Amino acid sequence: MYRLEKSGMEDLVAYYRHHKRSFPWRMSQDPYDVWLSEIMLQQTRTEAVISYFLRFKEEVPDIGTLAAIDDDRLLRLWEGLGYYSRARNLKKCAQMIEEGYGGKIPADHDVLLKLPGIGPYTAGAIMAIAFGQPYAAVDGNVLRVLSRYFGIREDIRQPKLRKQLEEAICAFYREHDIEDEQFIRDLTQAYMDLGATVCIPNGKPDCESCPLRMDCHTCQNGLWETIPFRSGNKERRILERTLFIVRSGETFLLAKRPARGLLAGMYEFIGADGKLDRDAAGNYLKDRGFDVLQMRRLPDARHVFTHIEWRMRAYEVSIGNWDLPLKENEALFRKEELQGLALPSAFRVYSEYYGLRGG
Ligand code: ADE
Repeated sequence: MYRLEKSGMEDLVAYYRHHKRSFPWRMSQDPYDVWLSEIMLQQTRTEAVISYFLRFKEEVPDIGTLAAIDDDRLLRLWEGLGYYSRARNLKKCAQMIEEGYGGKIPADHDVLLKLPGIGPYTAGAIMAIAFGQPYAAVDGNVLRVLSRYFGIREDIRQPKLRKQLEEAICAFYREHDIEDEQFIRDLTQAYMDLGATVCIPNGKPDCESCPLRMDCHTCQNGLWETIPFRSGNKERRILERTLFIVRSGETFLLAKRPARGLLAGMYEFIGADGKLDRDAAGNYLKDRGFDVLQMRRLPDARHVFTHIEWRMRAYEVSIGNWDLPLKENEALFRKEELQGLALPSAFRVYSEYYGLRGG
């Protein structure tokens, strides 16, 4: 059982109060702001989230508005942040909160955990930051800070370690009867800030500035290069794709992706698996019945997702007319219409090339 020292935690809170980073979601303790920001901050850098958060709040100021938002508009607001299931879950959650909880985010850890897209980290963050309740929110930054503090050499990818650290935080609150809501809010965010600014992931941490240095096993033993230990990444699956940017003047052909899975329900350029050479690409288009006037190779592109990497070859295909049957999931868009559509960032190279918005 790992034990946090009270004096160190008090020093950390004092340090946070003096040095805390200023973010728009820290201007209030409104549960909606905390929830929205924590969802956006998953897998996305804080600096990148700021403008998204502000724009989202302006257009979708409350849960009622979110519950009723049009899907396309929602994806548009999320465009470029990636991991779009986060946005879909946000809306589903808002609908459930509207229907089941009178439009108010429930201050109940077990209930939060049952909502779509809310796992132990987010539930803990909402409980601690919005409601000042003694729960833990252990993300990657906090894992690093605490595994260094305790000198844990085990693989930090193990789920059991995260649970042990959550338990250490909760045990600390229990042992010292901590009910001071502001202290809990601040300590939760202090770990995050320490991990982002002092106890950094790449390069030497700034141990001289760290309020935890006296109790920190890693600092005291000069082990920052060894701890945390993280086992290697699983290899990503590589998928080769050929994209066809089929256009007739200013009208483009796009296809909607399936409702489930990667980039669910989003529009993309049509394509085929594998990297097709000119002849194979020409045959593919002929089989589809396109009246091809001109075909031009565009630069290759790559997009890395969590578990998969797309390696893309692309052809611009100018066609003479649209006299052919489109597939059920395909549709034509004029360039102006595309400005209002969320195109996944995976296609950024191509969408920007045509002056189409892409995240
Ligand atoms: N990363 C995740 N949650 C955060 C928060 N509330 N503040 C700053 N960085 C974070």
